[in-house]
Amino acid sequence: MFEKIKAAPADQILGLAEEFKTDPRTDKINLGVGIYKDESGYTQVLATVKKAETILLEKETTKSYLSILGIPEYGLAVQKLLFGDNTTLTDDKRIQIAQTPGGTGALRLAAEFIKCQLGSAKVWVSNPTWVNHNGIFTAAHLEIAEYSYYNSETKDIDFVAMMTHLETASAGDIVLLHGCCHNPTGIDPNNVQWQKLANLCNEKNLLPMFDLAYQGFAFGLEEDVAGLRIFANTCPELLVASSFSKNFGLYNERVGAFTLIGRNDQEAATAFSQVKSIARVIYSNPPAHGAAIVTKILCDETLRTEWVQEVTDMRLRIKAMRELFVTTIRRESVGTDFSFMGRQNGMFSFFGLNKGQVTRLKDEFGIYIINSGRISVAGMTQSNMDLLCKAIVAVI
Ligand code: LMR
Repeated sequence: MFEKIKAAPADQILGLAEEFKTDPRTDKINLGVGIYKDESGYTQVLATVKKAETILLEKETTKSYLSILGIPEYGLAVQKLLFGDNTTLTDDKRIQIAQTPGGTGALRLAAEFIKCQLGSAKVWVSNPTWVNHNGIFTAAHLEIAEYSYYNSETKDIDFVAMMTHLETASAGDIVLLHGCCHNPTGIDPNNVQWQKLANLCNEKNLLPMFDLAYQGFAFGLEEDVAGLRIFANTCPELLVASSFSKNFGLYNERVGAFTLIGRNDQEAATAFSQVKSIARVIYSNPPAHGAAIVTKILCDETLRTEWVQEVTDMRLRIKAMRELFVTTIRRESVGTDFSFMGRQNGMFSFFGLNKGQVTRLKDEFGIYIINSGRISVAGMTQSNMDLLCKAIVAVI
């Protein structure tokens, strides 16, 4: 029966990570997958995570199933991180949260909910967007439309084109927005632009959906949800898929959340009863360990303060690497201006390396970058910078 099955292509991001592992070159550099690495090029377990795990190991008494929506205290902690301690959403009971297996699990749950409950809605994604967005929405048999996002000349957001495209969306369509650190461009709307987008969604009856995977990596944990909070204050209904892979370094624990805000408590609860049914038939109930770690850290004042510092340190290291890249590449090739990298947020940089250049970087220099030309700045270190800049100058 399996004879006629054709091989699937390797995943553009995770497939490349597997290829990198098998490359025997000792000076190879992985700038593909969005995983934070420290100055020695290693992805350490955060100190706060280790401390929380020690406490959990001591206190854990059961491995019984979680409920379908996960750990209730986790949901509350997520809500506060996204919308602040004093949000009226809690009192009004307009907010519902499900713990999910990673941000991808949250997106897939959202996609199934949209397909099952919102019928013919189209999902608008930015051009470009995270490559897996298209895969997730296609897997749920949703129609995908693209809005312009990036101006390759100015290396900035093309806000006029973005608004023009979204003006053509139909009532009931979904607009997917990256909460911060847009993947792959690293370019985010400013607060005035967020407000204009929120007004547009509100006026045209579009349903905004945020993908928030990098909170804390642009300007800070509070600053990075400014856009999300503008939408929550402007639009009556909202969906959020969020992830703790990056800001807690819990990549392999799969910790995320799917949040729904409804017009009132009744509508939110009814809609979420459907989300619960969908989760039950996909993964039944979420895994406990990663979410227990996040809950422990966020609910313990000392651990939380220490964690905020760890997120700050990761953000500052990435920013320092951007600056070092700009000065090093300028030295390698006089007149080459990459100062736009300073305007980009988060792990990724995007400046239009083409497929041929990406292939040369891998084949000739052992530098791994995904096909779209997106570079993970989080993989840069002081010691690989010279080699990297020389190679980029050579291919461009
Ligand atoms: C990335 O974009 O590299 C990360 O979000 C990892 C992934 O799952 O693709």
